[in-house]
Amino acid sequence: MSEMIRQQYHLEPDKGLLNDPNGLSWFQGKYYVFFQWNRFEKNHSYKEWGLFTSEDLLKWKFEGSAVIPDQEYDRDGVYSGSGYVIDNQLYLFYTGNNKKDGKRKSSQCLVVTKDGRRYQKKGIILKTPEEYTEHFRDPKVFQGKHSGYYMVVGGQQKNGKGAIALCHSDDGETWNYQGMLAVSEQYEMMECPDLFLLDGRYVLLFNPQKRDNTADEPILSFSAYKLVEFDEENGIFRDASLDDGFELMDAGFDFYAPQTFLSPDGRRILFAWMSRMDDEQEKVFSRTELNIHCMTLPRELFLQEEKLCQKPIRELYHLLGQEIAAVCEKHEWSAQPAKRTFYLCLRRTGEEQKLNILFHQGEAEIAYISEEKKLTFSRRNWVDGTVETKSAAIDEWNELEIWSDHSSMEIFVNGGQVVFSARIFPKSQKPEVTVSGSTNGMKIEMREIMNMDKREEQKS
Ligand code: FRU
Repeated sequence: MSEMIRQQYHLEPDKGLLNDPNGLSWFQGKYYVFFQWNRFEKNHSYKEWGLFTSEDLLKWKFEGSAVIPDQEYDRDGVYSGSGYVIDNQLYLFYTGNNKKDGKRKSSQCLVVTKDGRRYQKKGIILKTPEEYTEHFRDPKVFQGKHSGYYMVVGGQQKNGKGAIALCHSDDGETWNYQGMLAVSEQYEMMECPDLFLLDGRYVLLFNPQKRDNTADEPILSFSAYKLVEFDEENGIFRDASLDDGFELMDAGFDFYAPQTFLSPDGRRILFAWMSRMDDEQEKVFSRTELNIHCMTLPRELFLQEEKLCQKPIRELYHLLGQEIAAVCEKHEWSAQPAKRTFYLCLRRTGEEQKLNILFHQGEAEIAYISEEKKLTFSRRNWVDGTVETKSAAIDEWNELEIWSDHSSMEIFVNGGQVVFSARIFPKSQKPEVTVSGSTNGMKIEMREIMNMDKREEQKS
């Protein structure tokens, strides 16, 4: 395994393939982060729920398998879902996938644990309602303001177009389909919906997917959010369209299927799968590795002028270590950190917006193009070596916070108004960061990111 690719402070299993975060919860004094896991191979041929736990969101324990496919209704995959603590038991809702004779059958299922170690399957709690095809999955459960529990489920209508379904339960065990909450004309499926209250507003997260319905294959998908007006009593949205009024969750390359939960102190925390790689990218990226993919950093969500913002959770700042020395010249600042794991924060103090940051001899690059008022982020594609670029419209940049791990970068722009997330394929043996532009009108801080052992040593 390559020291350069394996992440230092992002969640990833020791082997196999990780995808969506599942069942995020705070339960009996611990954080539970379940995830879609193929523990056998670095591909999508098998899915169960693996588990990480933590008391502080910093030091994680990899617990291995939690919910495995061992019933007829989930024999071809324990697919994505969510968790909710009811009467001191953790209720986990997931989609059981059955593909007997090549024909997909989805069932929404419940499994309950009293101690986080033994999982008792309670069976199917909801069959696919008549209006949908068997692309019906990823139940996310939350408590109603007035009564009982709600569940949103991603789906495809019989006309081949995407939709989100709403279900209700008084006790978390017996569920009823209530109706279609939102629909799309442009996308053929909606994966992994999430609906929650944030600063008094309802936020809907969803992942529109374009599919070739004849071949029954996905074409493209991305992650979006929309502020919605949810009339809980009648189980409806005021605006039911999923085709407009939405914003991208992430401006970078690798971000999908985010899920949120409430921390015990009331913060809305998000994890997402940090990947949008295709099969070939997955193969090349993990050629030297036993595993592929990781989670994003946990992020706290908040609203600012009707925009959903994300910032790294405050616990992460405890990982920041020594400041890294840099050489500063008139228009250039450069540093050669010992490792690829670092924190870099730039604050603009002057009028000039000019900015360019080059990482590791061109593995990645950030630039602000003042004339076009946009920020670009480029990385070198590890399959064909070309440079690929993403950009976001930004009127002016005031602050950039960059969290770099061995093979990823997350860039939080202007306090999290825009975020770029990406895996970076490490090629360079010589970590090096060069900032150019109006560097005398910037405050630049670069720090080591400690691993947990070093942090423990420092504390004692
Ligand atoms: C999203 C997704 C979900 C599904 C799971 C299967 O990445 O396709 O819709 O439940 O992954 O692993």
